[in-house]
Amino acid sequence: MQALAILHASQLITLAGPKRPRAGGEMSDLSIIRDGGILIRDSRIDRVDSSDEIERRAGTAQIVNAGGRVILPGFVDAHAHPVFAGNRLDDFERRARGETYEQIAAAGGGIWSTVEKTRAASDSDLLAQAKKHAAWFLRCGTTTVEAKSGYGLTLSDELKSLRVIRRLNEETPIEFVPTFLGAHTPPRGMGADDYVDLVISKMLPQVASEKLAEFCDVFCEGGYFDIKQSKMILTAAKKLGLKLRIHADQLSNSGGARLAADLNATTADHLEKTNGEGIAAMKSAGVQPVLLPGSVYALGSTAYPRARDMIDAGLAVVIASDFNPGSSPTPCMPMVLSLACTQMKMSPAEAVTAATINAAYSLNRGNKIGSLEAGKIANFSIFDCEDYREIAYWFGFPQTRSVYVKGERVTGA
Ligand code: NIG
Ligand code: FE
Repeated sequence: MQALAILHASQLITLAGPKRPRAGGEMSDLSIIRDGGILIRDSRIDRVDSSDEIERRAGTAQIVNAGGRVILPGFVDAHAHPVFAGNRLDDFERRARGETYEQIAAAGGGIWSTVEKTRAASDSDLLAQAKKHAAWFLRCGTTTVEAKSGYGLTLSDELKSLRVIRRLNEETPIEFVPTFLGAHTPPRGMGADDYVDLVISKMLPQVASEKLAEFCDVFCEGGYFDIKQSKMILTAAKKLGLKLRIHADQLSNSGGARLAADLNATTADHLEKTNGEGIAAMKSAGVQPVLLPGSVYALGSTAYPRARDMIDAGLAVVIASDFNPGSSPTPCMPMVLSLACTQMKMSPAEAVTAATINAAYSLNRGNKIGSLEAGKIANFSIFDCEDYREIAYWFGFPQTRSVYVKGERVTGA
């Protein structure tokens, strides 16, 4: 493959720094190179430097002029549910009329309605819909996506979704990191305890033996899986070598953040209702909070998680889309950055760190992606703006001009 030299980024946002997630004040340091350039060889970053220096070293490399635009590492979306069939337009309209997430679920909408559609979809239909979602992610500058199952809820339907995730990895430019979320909701007609048994005795062993997931997640919430049930599932998953993420404290403060800390989970996600005690527990166990402002926004709530308290407590905060048909129908990380700044009072720099290097570490990939440093995979986007803060400032449309994965342009001009 011919080498590639990208020249003249107004701001090359490298996020170069210590080889670990960035906590507290470190989240504000983006290591920006003005009039920067990147030299890429064999799909990896060979060097980042001033544009002049990269040009001097370019040799026979193909030259791309970024034209005074911003370059950012590809977004790493560390919480998403991209494999599902259909949509939830009825829920959307009901919510507009004032019904809550819980009321809509009780009336036949909610997660269960997506489960029915996902079960009914053929493998190829499900794959085709997921590929459409993958194209949306790419268009917004996301090059790595965590992908949860959880709309199957039988052994064969969960395996079907996880195999679709595997195919997405083979057939799209995005890297999808698979998470088994069998415990998304107890299926209709089965008690939660019986379902927990099924997850532990049948699903988890098969998922682990086929290496279909790297992480296990649970929707830990009253009416879904309580603390005891969540703990049983996650403990079994851990024994099988899976790492842990938890949907925690989204609708009520049920002790999900504390559980994540007790189990040494990699992340605790949502955390809209987490209090100071939960924040302290995550800090002492090194759990990374994954905040999902898109779901707060789309549910029409104003109860955003306490991002400032978490950053001030020294946590390595992550932000993600929570892309799913019910509570967060957006794949758009720039929109998530906007919400992080306007609603959670994060600075644009903190939001960028949370969406790139910190997210990469939360997926166990901080050594390969999430920043633009020599040796890392050349995943990055050129944005049609001069200052990185514009990415969070102008909202509602992606300013991505072109997106590169492994040093190859996959969308844009
Ligand atoms: O992260 N909270 C649980 N799961 C999703 C919602 C999934 C759905 O409504 O389909 C979430 O918000
Ligand atoms: Fe989620």
